[in-house]
Amino acid sequence: MAARLRATSLLLAALLAASAAGALGRALLQGSTKVGLWADEPEPMKSFDKAVEARVDELASLSATVVPLPNLDDRITALENGTVDWVVAAFSVTPDRAKLVDFVLPYYFSAGAALFAPQGNAAGITSWEGVRGKKLASLTEAVDLVNKGEAVAAVYDSTTVSPGGGLTQVAGIPLLLPTPMGIAVKKGNTQLADKISAALTNMATGGASSDLAMYEQKYFVSQGAQPNPDLAALLADPASKTTMLGKAIA
Ligand SMILES: *[C@@H]1O[C@H](CO)[C@@H](O)[C@H](O)[C@H]1NC(C)=O
Repeated sequence: MAARLRATSLLLAALLAASAAGALGRALLQGSTKVGLWADEPEPMKSFDKAVEARVDELASLSATVVPLPNLDDRITALENGTVDWVVAAFSVTPDRAKLVDFVLPYYFSAGAALFAPQGNAAGITSWEGVRGKKLASLTEAVDLVNKGEAVAAVYDSTTVSPGGGLTQVAGIPLLLPTPMGIAVKKGNTQLADKISAALTNMATGGASSDLAMYEQKYFVSQGAQPNPDLAALLADPASKTTMLGKAIA
C-alpha cells in the first residue's frame, strides 16, 4: 500500500513537472501577456481579428489573457496605462496614432471606402471615375436609397461584407483612401513587437495556404466579400510591408 502510494505521488510529481514544462512553464518562463480584443459580437472583422490573435498567441507563445475592449477609443489608453500589452482590433495605422503606440510589422489588412450595390453591380460602374454624375448614398439611409433606385450604389467601409438590403461590394474598383491595419503594442515594447512580427510574417507566408489567406477566405470571401488587394500584396511578398508601413506613418 505504501509503495503504491509512493508510486502514485511520484507519478503525480512527474505529471506536475510535465505540465510545468508545458503551458504553465512557458507562461512562467516567458511571461504572460494581456491582449485587447473586440467585445464579443459575430461580425466578420471581429472573427478575423480573433483568429489572428489566437494564432499569433500560439506561434509566439504569448500566453495571452483576453481583455475585451467594448469601446475602440480605449485601445490607445489601455496600451498606455498597461491594461493590455497588445491590441488586435481593426486598428488603423495613422501618423497620429503611431506617435502614441508602436504598430507591428508587417501589418495585416487594410480598410478603405468601397461601393456596395445590388448583386455587386452599380449600374455598370467599374471605377471611381465612373461615379461622376451618378448619385451615391452613404450613412443610414443609403441601403434604402439604392434599393429604391434613387442612388446607384452605397459607399461603405470595405471590411463590411454587406451594409444590408442584399447589397454586395462592387468588384474591381480599388479602395478609396485605403488605410493599413496593424497589431499595436505599447510604445517602446520592441521585445513584444518583434515576437508578434515574426508570428505575422509566418502567417503571411505560403500564399493561398497561409493562415491570413485562409482567415480572409473563411471570414470575408466566403461570405460574399471581395478579396483585399493589400492583403494580396502582403501575401505575394511578406517582406515588402516595412516600406508600406513607413509610408502610412510618414
Ligand atoms: C486604463 O485604460 C482603460 C481603457 O481606457 C480603462 O478601462 C482602465 O480603467 C484604465 N486603467 C487605469 C488603471 O487607469
